[in-house]
Amino acid sequence: MKTPWHMAIAIVGTVILGGALLAAQQTRKVSDEFRRQFIKDFKRIGLNTTVGDAALLRILVESGRCKRGVEVGSATGFGAINMGIAFERNGGQLITLDIDPAMIKTTRENVAAMGLEKTVTAIEGDALKTLAELKGEFDFVFIDALKPDYLKYLKLIEPKLKAGAVVVADNVIRSERQMKDYLEYVQTSPNYDTTIVRASVEKNDGMAISYKLK
Ligand SMILES: C[S@@+](CC[C@H](N)C(=O)[O-])C[C@H]1O[C@@H](n2cnc3c(N)ncnc32)[C@H](O)[C@@H]1O
Repeated sequence: MKTPWHMAIAIVGTVILGGALLAAQQTRKVSDEFRRQFIKDFKRIGLNTTVGDAALLRILVESGRCKRGVEVGSATGFGAINMGIAFERNGGQLITLDIDPAMIKTTRENVAAMGLEKTVTAIEGDALKTLAELKGEFDFVFIDALKPDYLKYLKLIEPKLKAGAVVVADNVIRSERQMKDYLEYVQTSPNYDTTIVRASVEKNDGMAISYKLK
């Protein structure tokens, strides 16, 4: 005969088992080896950042112990999955923004394949709007969308940047003329230390790395 105690134990057991199964489904563990191979085999499109630049972004995030990052311009998520690995190791979060729904869809698929859904969030929309809507503070920014709008992107996120934040801007050599205002700002402002690096020769281009002093 089933007593109320038997019933209660059965219900609790079912809830615990269901929860465990759901959690197991949601946290697909992906090995470091799988991730390395996924990045190696990644079918990059022309818009994607280079392998060397993506590695530098990952190293900057990890070595800076960065906890909260935003990427402006996801494309298919090559930069996002590389930075995502470092943010996951730091116990942090990355938000990546793109105006193109197809890019966001592919980024989400690549983030899921890497098992980084809990760390990387892809948001669809014009960054000139979505950046303004982001809440909280950030300590890492990667700017890689419309070249003439770099300064606008920085100005939108700047009030949310912590002292010690790192801001990386891509394509600053080949698209220098389109982002003169951005480069002048980060190179002359007393609030930033800025240098330009070429981590890869693949596109004959470079990235500006700015450290926010205060
Ligand atoms: C150079 S790709 C980004 C590459 C990417 N960071 C990576 O690591 O592979 C630039 C992306 O910016 C997006 N984009 C252009 N204008 C935008 C805007 N106003 N807001 C958000 N994304 C934008 C484009 O759709 C494109 O996917």
